[in-house]
Amino acid sequence: MHDIIKQLEDRRAQAHLGGGERRIAAQHKKGKLTARERLEVLLDEGSFEEFDMFVTHKCQDFGMEKEYIPGDGVITGWGTINGRMVYVYSQDFTVFGGSLSQTHAKKICKIQEMAIKVGAPIIGINDSGGARIQEGVAALAGYTDVFQNNINASGVVPQISLVMGPCAGGAVYSPALTDFVFMVRDSSYMFLTGPDVVKTVTNEEVTAEELGGAKTHTTKSSVADGAFDNDMEALMEIRRLFDFLPANNRSKVPVRPFFDDPKRKEPSLNTLIPDNPNAPYDMVELVEKLADEGDFYEIQPDFAKNILTGFIRLEGATVGVVANQPMVLAGCLDINASRKAARFVRFCDAFDIPLLTLVDVPGFLPGTAQEYSGVIKHGAKLLYAYGEATVPRVTVITRKAYGGAYCVMSPKHLGGDVNYAWPTAEIAVMGAKGAVEILHRADLGDAEKITALTDDYEDRFANPFVAAENGYIDEVIMPQNTRLRVARALASLRGKQVTRPWRKHDNLPL
Ligand code: HXC
Repeated sequence: MHDIIKQLEDRRAQAHLGGGERRIAAQHKKGKLTARERLEVLLDEGSFEEFDMFVTHKCQDFGMEKEYIPGDGVITGWGTINGRMVYVYSQDFTVFGGSLSQTHAKKICKIQEMAIKVGAPIIGINDSGGARIQEGVAALAGYTDVFQNNINASGVVPQISLVMGPCAGGAVYSPALTDFVFMVRDSSYMFLTGPDVVKTVTNEEVTAEELGGAKTHTTKSSVADGAFDNDMEALMEIRRLFDFLPANNRSKVPVRPFFDDPKRKEPSLNTLIPDNPNAPYDMVELVEKLADEGDFYEIQPDFAKNILTGFIRLEGATVGVVANQPMVLAGCLDINASRKAARFVRFCDAFDIPLLTLVDVPGFLPGTAQEYSGVIKHGAKLLYAYGEATVPRVTVITRKAYGGAYCVMSPKHLGGDVNYAWPTAEIAVMGAKGAVEILHRADLGDAEKITALTDDYEDRFANPFVAAENGYIDEVIMPQNTRLRVARALASLRGKQVTRPWRKHDNLPL
C-alpha cells in the first residue's frame, strides 16, 4: 500500500512538471503563465478536479515511442468560478508545444461531452503549436472530433475560448465555433496560414502579430471579442464574464445579491440628449447609469463601435444590452454593426438572457462599399436575429429611430414586448430635411418654403407621439426613470412564453 501511494505521488509530481523546469522557465520568460497556473487563477481556490492526468499519447513514429509526458499536453477537468461549475481545458505549451495528438483531443472531447450532459459551461485555454506533426492524420481526426463537439455544445452550454499563445491552422476553428473568443495582447495569435505561407503565396510581408494578433482580431476581423494585456488580467476578466452567464440553455440567468436600488432615479439623463439633434452623446453613459452598480461588461468594444453590445444586471439578474452609439458614425447601422449585434442577440436568445435595446439610429450607412459588400444580407441578419428572439425584450428609443433601422432595432412589430420612448424620440421614415427634399423637389430653390416645410415635418414626426398614438410605443417615459421602468418591464415579462411552428432549423441569411 505504502509503495503504491508513493508511486501515485511521484506520478502526480511528474505530471505537474509538464515539459520540465527548462520549458516552464521559457514559458515564464515570454510573460506567460503555465497551463496549471492559468487554471489556478481562473478557478476558485482548491476547486479543480482533474481528469486524465496520466493519459499519454499512442504514437509509435518519429521517436515518439520513447517520449511520453503524462497528460499529453492538455490539462482537463472541472472546477468552480464563484461557486458555479465549469468544465475547463488548458493546453500546456511546455509539452510538445501544446500540440494536439489523438489522445490530447480525446481528453478535450471527454470534458466537452461531460459539460453537455451536466449542463455546465466550457472554458478552453488555447496555447498550442497545432496538430501534433508526428501523428499526421490522427491529429486531424482529433481536431475534427473537438469541432463536432463544439457544434454539439453550441446553444446548449456557453463556450468561451481564451487564446493565450499560438493558435494556427485548422486549430483556429475550435475557438471560432465557440460563443466568445478572447486573446492576450502581444503573446497570442490566430491565423489559418502563417506569415511564411502568406509570403510564398501572395508575396505579402506581414508579421505574426499584424496577421493574427489581438489588435487585428479585435478591431479588423472581429474573430475575437476582447483582448487583455496579460494572462492574469485575461483570466480575472473571464471570471467576471462567467458571472453574467447562465449555466446552460435550460437554466435561468444567475441572480446576484444587489445593493443598487432599482428605483434609483438619474436626473442627469434628462439632459443627456443634446439640443442639437445632430450632436452626439455617449450611449455608454446611459448604459452605465441604468446598470446595477454601473457594471457593464462590453463584448467587442473595439469593433463596429457604432453599436454597443454587452451585459449588465438589473435587480441582480443578467440583461443583454444592444445600443446604437451616436458617437461613432452617428450611430448608423452598417455591415459590421449588424453582424456584431446579430450574433450577440442570438447568443442571448439561445441562453434565455433578456434583451434591452437602446435606440438612436439615423438609418443604415449609405455607400457603394456597403452595398457591394452585402449590407442588405448582413442587415438582414440583425433583423432576423431580433425577429426570431423569444426572450423578454424591452426597447427604449432615446432619439432617432429612422427608416429601415427603426424596423430592425427591436420594434414592437418584430417581437419587442415593452417599447418605450423618451420625449426626445423622433420616429420617422427619415430626417425632416431629407424627407422634404424628396417630397418637394420642385420647391428646392425656395429656401423659405423649404424651411417652413421642414419645420412642419419636424412638428409632425420629430417626436414620439405619432408612434404612441398608434400603439407602436407603449409609453413615453421620463429619461430619469428609465432604470426603474426597464427593471419593472423585465420583471413583468418573467413568465413570457412563445411557441413557434415546428421546423428543422431556420435559414438565417449567412
Ligand atoms: C509537435 C511541436 C509542434 C507540433 C511545436 N512543437 N509545434 N511538436 N507538433 N505541431 C514542439 C517543438 O518541437 C518544441 O519542442 C516545442 O514544441 C516548442 O516549440 P518551439 O518551436 O521551440 O517554440 P516557439 O519558438 O515558441 O515556436 C512556436 C511555434 C512553432 C510558432 C508554434 O513551434 C511552430 O511553428 N510549430 C509548428 C506549427 C505548425 O505548423 N503546426 C501544424 C499546423 S497545421 P521541444 O522538444 O524543442 O521543446 C494544423 C492543422 C490542424 O494544426 C487542422 C485541423 C483540421
